[in-house]
Amino acid sequence: MKKVLFVGSECYPFVKTGGLGDVMYALPKALLKEGYDVRVIIPNYRCIPWEYRSKMKYITHFYMDLGHDPNHKYVGIMTLELDGVTYYFIDCDDYFGSGNPYEDMSKDIIKYIFFDKAVLSALPVIGFMPDIIHCHDWQAGFVPVFLRTLFYDTPLSHNSKCIMTIHNLKFQGVANIDTVKYITAFPDYVYTEEKIKFGKDVNMLKGGLVFADKITTVSNTYSGEIKSREYGEYLDGVINYHHMKLCGILNGIDYDIYNPNTDTQIYKTYGIKDAIEGKKKNKLEMQKEWGLWQDENKFVIGLVSRLTDQKGLDLVNNIMERLLDNHTEFVLIGTGEGRYENMFRHYEQRHKGQVCSNILYAEDRSHKLFAGADAILVPSRFEPCGLTQMMALRYGAIPIVRATGGLKDTVIPYNEYEESGNGFSFTEYNADILLNVINYAKTIYFTRRDSWNQMIKRAMETDYSWKNSASQYRSLYTSLVGE
Ligand code: ADP
Ligand code: GLC
Repeated sequence: MKKVLFVGSECYPFVKTGGLGDVMYALPKALLKEGYDVRVIIPNYRCIPWEYRSKMKYITHFYMDLGHDPNHKYVGIMTLELDGVTYYFIDCDDYFGSGNPYEDMSKDIIKYIFFDKAVLSALPVIGFMPDIIHCHDWQAGFVPVFLRTLFYDTPLSHNSKCIMTIHNLKFQGVANIDTVKYITAFPDYVYTEEKIKFGKDVNMLKGGLVFADKITTVSNTYSGEIKSREYGEYLDGVINYHHMKLCGILNGIDYDIYNPNTDTQIYKTYGIKDAIEGKKKNKLEMQKEWGLWQDENKFVIGLVSRLTDQKGLDLVNNIMERLLDNHTEFVLIGTGEGRYENMFRHYEQRHKGQVCSNILYAEDRSHKLFAGADAILVPSRFEPCGLTQMMALRYGAIPIVRATGGLKDTVIPYNEYEESGNGFSFTEYNADILLNVINYAKTIYFTRRDSWNQMIKRAMETDYSWKNSASQYRSLYTSLVGE
């Protein structure tokens, strides 16, 4: 049985700020079914709920040097098992004791460099020798660099292949070169433009891309987009140079957690057969609970998102007043940049009963919204994969998306002549075009309800479980280490 280790900065249900957390939980579970011994390692942040913290078992600890820093650092290793997957948590109060996973960048750089080295140092101590070390996003970017430099002459380096998965190229972990030199003690030859140097700085994600054996990203379209100037975030050159190592594998969603048939977080469970009735009940309850006008005939649009530039919120701002006619309601669940939080607060104040802005992070509410909304909006500027459109499909909420990255690969635009498709999409990043598409969707909803209801059925029949994607990861692993 081949052994796989997932390395990353977050993992549901312990700590999650976005889709990375979902994938770090659901993909290992799916790979388990493919016959791998999969384990996951993340930092032991203080914010991990007590419910899990209290179940962790202490394995061991040791002291590790961090480059030229004379103070050796405590590395504790905790473990727990959940749904058949073994999790390890790297414990160190100096770095992970403050609560939230992400703080200011200068702190984050040091703590994830510590984490990356601690992961490799911990493996021989735990006695787990992975065939594949699968690293996720910039926070794990120095794992391949450590493995092939300071750890190059170890059984681990001889035995293990490294994969670097890009969930979001925008975040790269750009660090001051002197800091990196001090705390890593990497050999001098890594500080070139071909390796980890990035202008006058150092780039952790770039290091991962250069030193990994394979690179993946989370949709096929995004794997093409990041080779371009427009989406390349100044790493398009590196990505093009290493294009032979790169492939796109679409994310899935966890079909046990997101299942309208069994979901205990929604008001009323339903399946494909009773979806219309089920969604109506969920809509009415949601409207009541969240202070909206309770009317099954309103077209309810939902948005569940981190509130950042990536998500196309300037387009939403531009169209909001024109969108809100008497037949339309809007629900947001999101947190993030203050200006966007205030923007949605403003719309709720101005349109009480018609707009509900949940400025908070609440998984249960997101389930309620997928079940109760008619449509889910994802107008992203760029989107490596995107999970909320897949969740929407699963609950029969019709996605209205910008055709970029994974959104393009998952939403098939409605075609009224063939009666095909499971959503609506637009290409140009333009507010008026977004509004046109939403108005078109509303026209279908209000004037051709049968067609709309058929689309709900097609949406719910679309299969974005992890099964397909897990078997693609399997092929990738096999190409590196055999069956
Ligand atoms: P990203 O990773 O860029 O944030 P994804 O669509 O891949 O975008 O994943 C976002 C995940 O985070 C989904 O599971 C979504 O439901 C969840 N999410 C985002 N914001 C919130 C929120 N405020 N409350 C609950 N869940 C949220
Ligand atoms: C990132 C991307 C998102 C993707 C998620 C999981 O956060 O922004 O598009 O779905 O990672 O891969």
